[in-house]
Amino acid sequence: MDHLVSPSLLSADFGNLAKDVEIINNSLADWIHCDIMDGIFVPNISIGFPVVAAVKRTAKKPLDVHLMIMDPDRYLARWKETGADILTVQYEACTHLNRTVSEIRRLGMKAGVAVNPHTPVALLKNILPYIDMVLIMTVNPGFGGQSFIMESYSKIAELKKMIDSGGYKVMIEVDGGVDTENAGKLVETGVDVLVAGNTVFNSKDPVATIKKLKQAE
Ligand code: DX5
Ligand code: ZN
Repeated sequence: MDHLVSPSLLSADFGNLAKDVEIINNSLADWIHCDIMDGIFVPNISIGFPVVAAVKRTAKKPLDVHLMIMDPDRYLARWKETGADILTVQYEACTHLNRTVSEIRRLGMKAGVAVNPHTPVALLKNILPYIDMVLIMTVNPGFGGQSFIMESYSKIAELKKMIDSGGYKVMIEVDGGVDTENAGKLVETGVDVLVAGNTVFNSKDPVATIKKLKQAE
């Protein structure tokens, strides 16, 4: 169980967020995934700085912040101040991606780049030396509880090859439609971090579900 598990708060109870953060604290989860949506890059709006700051006060695990917003450069320093440990921007939302990820690292966070289902991983070739993680969107971003896109397996395998052949230290995270059924195959294909929202928070026993995801092989 070398891989990490990052439960997504998008499916948590926003009326009682501290309780769900406490569940993650008391589980085998490694990170806490926070989805930030602006209503423009994706057709949904989620949470922003005050809510993530409140999560940070309760969290005992690193915050894995996934920005689904246009032009994220405007807010990188604010995310650092708010408590992001890993900050992931969408490839499709950045004009000068190299500048963006360099700034994320300069601020002291790990830098991630997310790709939408239609974006080929080959486009990441020249950014891999500058980042810590690639997030492969395995559903169209914007909503929790959608079905996993099967073509994602070949993207993961292709990316894994690119990372290994270049000798880069870049993690692969998958996000969307991850469950206890497909987790094993994903890890086998080369995934380092499993994000799961619906699977964790709509299960009877989230701690046990996180354990299952952590033990998938
Ligand atoms: C979707 C978000 C995901 C979402 C995954 O746009 O980026 O992090 O929470 O949700 P599930 O695991 O329910 O597919
Ligand atoms: Zn996400």
